[in-house]
Amino acid sequence: MKYRAQMTKKTSVIAVANHKGGCGKTTTVVNLSAELAKMGLSVLVIDLDPQANASLHIGKKHPSEVPVTCAELLLSEVEKLPQSIDDDTNIDGVSLIYGSLALGKTEDELKDDVPRPSEELRDKIKHLHGIYDVILIDCPPSLKLLTSNALAAATHLIIPIESGSQYGMYGVTDLMKLVEKIKRINPELELIGALLIRHDERQTVCKLIEASAKDQIGKLIDVRIPTSTKVNQSAIAQMSLHALDRTSKVSREFRRLAEVIAKQLNLVEGVDQA
Ligand SMILES: Nc1ncnc2c1ncn2[C@@H]1O[C@H](COP(=O)(O)OP(=O)(O)OP(=O)(O)O)[C@@H](O)[C@H]1O
Ligand SMILES: [Mg+2]
Repeated sequence: MKYRAQMTKKTSVIAVANHKGGCGKTTTVVNLSAELAKMGLSVLVIDLDPQANASLHIGKKHPSEVPVTCAELLLSEVEKLPQSIDDDTNIDGVSLIYGSLALGKTEDELKDDVPRPSEELRDKIKHLHGIYDVILIDCPPSLKLLTSNALAAATHLIIPIESGSQYGMYGVTDLMKLVEKIKRINPELELIGALLIRHDERQTVCKLIEASAKDQIGKLIDVRIPTSTKVNQSAIAQMSLHALDRTSKVSREFRRLAEVIAKQLNLVEGVDQA
């Protein structure tokens, strides 16, 4: 299949959020960005997590060496925006605004110093609309201000759910409540759906989590990401799964995820059979 980017860009901003730690947010952002870029789309990843895992995977620099990360960007005037974007990353066609440990403090400073603390990211990245086809935001495992900023800036939302864990749905109602609250300032925010990660349809726990995700979140993305040791290998090698082994099942499922999302969000002009 061959994809073409649209002539006039309408930028889709996809937040990948779930405050449950380790459910696959960063893995989804990294590999979805790589697959969308492979389709010829221009992609920017924004790392809003103080752990900076997406930056450590995608970026060529260490976050501590980067002068303008998300932390500085959120607290500065918009003039710093161009300086915050790094086009030279480990993944072709993917640009990055780094995250850094300083984001932990940024959250407190936003709360104290800014009149609308949830809307700082939105105010900054509105200047990028029309420049990128897709902006993907990697959220931290919390429901505090950084995640609120991501949801207020986003047009779309993906909620990764660890389907292989009996605790995979823990706390999801709190996330859904935050989404409803943020919709008051960002009514256009649209849920793409829950994405089942480490899914194995033969396991009872996965079937239970699948049913519960459908019930509580309402929408399930029709792609299941399996468990694979390649996920850790690709992070260590700072490569996408596509670059590590494009034929592996987990890599194919991320490709399918990108295709499903590109189609649903109208990111592509046409789908040619190659
Ligand atoms: N499909 C998978 N198969 C095997 N391991 C996986 C898979 N998805 C994620 N992992 C591993 O699980 C761990 C957590 O994944 P990831 O970092 O993507 O989650 P996260 O939601 O971003 O975590 P955090 O909440 O800490 O930001 C990582 O070590 C990652 O390599
Ligand atoms: Mg993460």
